[in-house]
Amino acid sequence: MKIREITDRLYETGLFTAGERGIRELEALLTTQEEEELAYLREKARAVTNQIYGKEVYIRGLIEFTNYCKNNCIYCGIRRDNTNAQRYRLSKEQIMECCETGYALGFRTFVLQGGEDAYFTDDRVCGIVSDIKAKFSDCAVTLSIGEKSKESYQAYFDAGADRYLLRHETADEQHYRQLHPPEMSLENRKRCLYDLKEIGYQVGCGFMVGSPHQSFDTLYEDLNFIKELEPHMVGIGPFIPQKDTPFGGEKAGTLDRTLRLLSIIRLMNPHVLLPATTALGTIHPQGREMGIQAGANVVMPNLSPVEVRDKYKLYDNKICTGDEAAECRHCMSRRMESIGYRVVVARGDFIS
Ligand code: 5AD
Ligand code: FES
Repeated sequence: MKIREITDRLYETGLFTAGERGIRELEALLTTQEEEELAYLREKARAVTNQIYGKEVYIRGLIEFTNYCKNNCIYCGIRRDNTNAQRYRLSKEQIMECCETGYALGFRTFVLQGGEDAYFTDDRVCGIVSDIKAKFSDCAVTLSIGEKSKESYQAYFDAGADRYLLRHETADEQHYRQLHPPEMSLENRKRCLYDLKEIGYQVGCGFMVGSPHQSFDTLYEDLNFIKELEPHMVGIGPFIPQKDTPFGGEKAGTLDRTLRLLSIIRLMNPHVLLPATTALGTIHPQGREMGIQAGANVVMPNLSPVEVRDKYKLYDNKICTGDEAAECRHCMSRRMESIGYRVVVARGDFIS
């Protein structure tokens, strides 16, 4: 099978061929060593991105406000069984300070991310969201706080939350069970994502590249699930082992495969908001730049207070843990300018 033909058809139809044949097409795109064919995939994905978003890159300020978590995901460094994690929570005042700093630096989206922490009741979450929206009315608030009931999601939405990130992690049942403890299910994960969409959030799903037991089959399912859900955002980054988890001795996902998947996701979902993630920047010093060149159009520098940054360790060797928000912000502008892109001061909504 010719890589160019597969690439062209992927863009034209938005899908791989159904069944076994499609899985082999995906495998071909993920394994070809023909540099010219690969450049074709990457450049086509970038051209599609440029048509919709131009050379502008959206920034989101990430506020990691709690690393307490009741869950025990096998891959994650803040899982409840990790007794080596130093737990912390930010107060509402600390969160507001992060937003103030961020606003002055040109952030117009704040992403509140945390573990599933019972301390942050719906009332507390709603209070934080509504305070941010009252003070920064031209900003979007994104939540990334895991699986909740539809009623909770509705309450956050009514309080002003605009977007919600909840990676599906894998769309394959068996693979999902290999990554999560028995009390979690793919079914509930999907229920959450569909509830969020129905309520009216801009929704993001996604997965780790190279997670243990991932295969061409499971990736094929991931890509089909994304088409079915039609999310506004898709977050992907390499799996990186965290030494205090059961997957601490596993291999990390690769830069190369992550970049190819970014291009594939862009071609299948031209309008989607696609971040070049911190994990990608962690496995290669120019990972985020290369992610943008492969079709990503969002970056998410860290706005968390420096005192807590090195405690939010989903994986090992995370970058930027010693840098102030302003350093990350300026570093990011320089990085994007170095490849001919420009970070913009804007909410950066989905363009339909
Ligand atoms: N490596 C890379 N990404 C990870 N995440 C959690 N643990 C790891 C890890 N070890 C990702 C998950 C989660 C997101 C917040 O971070 O995909 O949804
Ligand atoms: Fe944080 Fe470069 S993005 S220092």
